[in-house]
Parts: sequence; structure tokens; C-alpha cells
Amino acid sequence: MPHSETFSDYLSRRGISRRGFIRFCAVTASALALPAGQARALAVALSAAPRPSVIWLSFQECTGCTESLTRSSEPGIESLILDHLSLDYHHTLQAASGFAAEEARATAIAEHFGEYILIVDGSVPTGEQSAWSTIAGETNLDMLSHAADGAALVLAVGTCAAFGGVPAAAAIQAPALNQSGASSVGDLMLAGLVPNRPLVNVPGCPPVPGVMSGVIAHFLAFGTPPELDDRQRPLAWFAETVHDRCPRLPHFNRGRFARAFDDAGARRGWCLYELGCKGPETHNACPSVKWNLGTSFPMLSGHGCLGCSEPGFWDRALAPDDGRFIGSAFYPDSPPD
Ligand code: SF4
Ligand code: F3S
Repeated sequence: MPHSETFSDYLSRRGISRRGFIRFCAVTASALALPAGQARALAVALSAAPRPSVIWLSFQECTGCTESLTRSSEPGIESLILDHLSLDYHHTLQAASGFAAEEARATAIAEHFGEYILIVDGSVPTGEQSAWSTIAGETNLDMLSHAADGAALVLAVGTCAAFGGVPAAAAIQAPALNQSGASSVGDLMLAGLVPNRPLVNVPGCPPVPGVMSGVIAHFLAFGTPPELDDRQRPLAWFAETVHDRCPRLPHFNRGRFARAFDDAGARRGWCLYELGCKGPETHNACPSVKWNLGTSFPMLSGHGCLGCSEPGFWDRALAPDDGRFIGSAFYPDSPPD
């Protein structure tokens, strides 16, 4: 597929109706809280958007972010936005290996310098001269720095890339244990170790695919990221806490709390706050967008929120400021309070 193919051409080729496309633009414009009438502007701009080049780098991560993206199998236009991208380099998904893979990255950077979208998952090790993780003899830090230089937009997907995540976590009993010096993309930009480019954080462990496609749709249509909060997260999906939209909120408001995951209150769908739910302090779109084709999300499935999309995840899930341990009643061996 040529890079000159517009999104409109692509939809026609895939047999997607104009009506379906307009509906997608209306929903996306609403999710992005665009002013009235902007759904049409989004549709017009997005139709004409050429196929963007994307370079995806994976560092200290578990592949869950890529899994989340590739499992967004809904036949909706959200997944088509992601299909439409020219994924010129992806550590995990590409067929090429060895020299051919590194050549593909160098070619994509050279041919689309200043225009491509750089997606990063995983944190970047900075300890021991960044030697904790290298690819083809190049440290993750050097590879990120090189690729970020020519990026029009950097998307840090997943909590590891956005805030350090699990690789940056320190065990409770050994607080200085971030041995690899795992750092987020944003922190490296702030420290001047990576070129400063427009950055959007889409945290979550894993991130919600619909949020990734929404951010990309906005960028393709308007050439800018959507409005962000002070942690570089798109406000449209991260302004509210998961508590604000939780179906158990009426029980919270009436003081009805489950005390164990298998007690009568839990079976009645009562609030999981006393079982350690971090919903009130966690910003994410999971209650509205949900997972698995919109089927469910943690509190709907009976488990509290772990705070997976906030800075400090994983440590805060185990040792929150307020002393509540997630699942302590269910897992009696959880760290003592
Ligand atoms: Fe809030 Fe968690 Fe209770 Fe839901 S289960 S109402 S997110 S505290
Ligand atoms: Fe993560 Fe909490 Fe949502 S654990 S998936 S932010 S409910």
C-alpha cells in the first residue's frame, strides 16, 4: 500500500460505508470533547489524511501493550485506523530480523524524517551506562534518542513508557531497587537525554486500544495532539477517575462495602474500596471504553482497580498512602499493614 493512499481511499478499498465512517467521527469527536460541528471537520480532515509512517520501539516491557493493540479485533473503524498506519518498524511484529530489521528502521527514519509517529512501549534503562538493555548493540536510550529526533509525535503507550511502570517499581522492603534505572520517555525528555518532541502518554497496563486510535485520529486530522493534562495524558479519556464512572459507585455513596471477595456484599456488587480498590485516585477510560469488545473491565468483573494507569504503579498498589492493600482480604499473605 502506498503512503499516498488517503484514509478515504483505504476505507473504500475495505468496503467501509460512508455512514459508518461518519458515525465513527461523531463518536470520536464526542470522546475528544471537540466543539459542536467539529465532527464534520474531523471527518473531512481524516478522509484526506495520507497513510502515516509509524515506528514502534519496545524496550523494558512485557509485550502486553502490543497484545492489547493486536487484540482490538472489533470490526470498527477504531481498529481500521490502526490498520491504516504504515507500521514501518515494530520490534515484535515485524517479519524482518537482524540487519534487515535495523535497515528498515533506518530507512523509515530517513525517508519520513520529521513526519512519522513514534510509538514507544516499555521503560528505558539508564543504569550502568544504559547497558541493561541493548538491541543490535545499541542501547535503548540511544535508539530512542535517534528515533525521537525525526518524530512529529511521540506516543508513550503503557504505564512503563509513560511513567516507568513495573520495571521502575521498587520492592516495599527495598525501596531503592529500581536497579536498571528504568525511566519514562517524558522524564528522559525533561532530563535532556532524548530530543523534546510533542509527547502523548497513554498509560495503562495495558493501555486501552480505543484511546490510542483516538489520539492518532486527532493527530492525522488536525496535525496536533488532543488536549492533554499535566501528565501529558489526553484529557478526553483521562479527566475522570475510574471511580467517577464505576457501576459500584451508588454502593460507595451509600456506604455498602464488600469485606472479602466472596462475601455476600461482593456477590451483590457492592463497592470494593475496603478491598483496596484504587478507583478514586486512578484516571483511565476503562469504565467507558471497556475491554474485550466492550464486554467488561476490572470492577465489573469483581476485582478492584490496581491503579495501573497512574505514576507509582506497581508500588502504590501494594503500599498505598492510605494503607489499603489491594486484595489483602483475598490474599492473606499480602504485605502487612
Ligand atoms: Fe470506586 Fe472502586 Fe468502589 Fe468502584 S469499586 S465505586 S471504583 S472504590
Ligand atoms: Fe487499570 Fe484500574 Fe482500569 S487497574 S484497567 S485503571 S480499572
